[in-house]
Amino acid sequence: MSLRVVVEAYQQLVAEGYLTSRAGGYTRVAIGPETAAPPARPAPARAPRIDFCPCKADGSRFPRAAWLRSIRRVLTEASAEDFGYVSGRGAPALHDALAGYLNRVRGTSANARDIVICNGYAHGIALVIQMLVKSGATRLAVEDPCADDDAVPVARAAGLEVVGVPVDEDGVRVDALDRIDADALILTPSHQWPTGAVLAPARRAAALRWAEERDALIVEDDYDAEYRYDRAPIGAIQGLAPDRVIYAGTASKTLAPGLRLGWLVAPGQLIAGIAEAKTLADRGSPVLDQLAFADFLSHGEFDRHLRRMRPLYRRRRDALLTALRERLPDLEPAGIAAGLHLVAYLPDDVAEPAVVEATSTPWPK
Ligand SMILES: Cc1ncc(COP(=O)(O)O)c(C=O)c1O
Repeated sequence: MSLRVVVEAYQQLVAEGYLTSRAGGYTRVAIGPETAAPPARPAPARAPRIDFCPCKADGSRFPRAAWLRSIRRVLTEASAEDFGYVSGRGAPALHDALAGYLNRVRGTSANARDIVICNGYAHGIALVIQMLVKSGATRLAVEDPCADDDAVPVARAAGLEVVGVPVDEDGVRVDALDRIDADALILTPSHQWPTGAVLAPARRAAALRWAEERDALIVEDDYDAEYRYDRAPIGAIQGLAPDRVIYAGTASKTLAPGLRLGWLVAPGQLIAGIAEAKTLADRGSPVLDQLAFADFLSHGEFDRHLRRMRPLYRRRRDALLTALRERLPDLEPAGIAAGLHLVAYLPDDVAEPAVVEATSTPWPK
């Protein structure tokens, strides 16, 4: 047999993946399919010493031990049926636990049967928008300014016209609202995102009147309600008009955004439409997480966790205010003493680079 035939046979076996051959090395029988070397991972970004992201609970304070106890109890006690699909509304045990908690702490008027569990607020508002569009809605009113990464893009993509209602230091401006016709209005009454205002009591009543006159809905994003530092938080608007208001809550600011746990309390006649949207979206949120949260709530762990976190977040907010007063005395912080974010407006005579400079120099340990 000529050498050329042998070389060609080897080349063919290499081409078909039976052999591997490297320049300067032996030819070997291939053990498995050849895979390219994985690309080098970029070095992880250094974690900041102080994370100013206002969008999440402090992950290092997640109540791991208590959550573990809840998971252990759930896994020990869950029935075989609990491992199956749930309805689009979610796990009944969590409906009961949430209705009890919200009615006691947030002053809602929630029936356990009128709750839908969703994957955080972002998902909840998407379900509501889907339900609104299906029922013929054409226009959605939102606070201006508001978050630009949840309801607004989702509503526009679903074909709704989105109109902004200006916000001042008492929340959404009722004079402007009165000039607007819309099928629904999204509010953050407890702690307006991003201005930090709380919706004044007279304006709550006016917003409800506005909705009543137009047969419209109010979606109450109960943002940051768990963290009011100077007094007891005002109760949810939903408690004043459960037939007009869809209440939305989330565990993202209290436990962790990674849980993707949220809930909607809606007027009874809307529940079927929202639950249908939920089933179509994903056949329901993970059941074991829902059961763990139900257990966590009903054993008082959620209350305990919030009691621990409130003074901590308050101290952090105070430290930020003190530092701002020392370094940028002209900066006027706005909004109420609440929540996980703080807004301060630049006075006309203070330029942005000066603020960046003042806040970038090292802080004392
Ligand atoms: C105004 C507002 N509401 C609610 C949330 C919570 O969103 P999710 O529950 O989807 O994490 C956020 C997130 O930062 C927000 O900015």
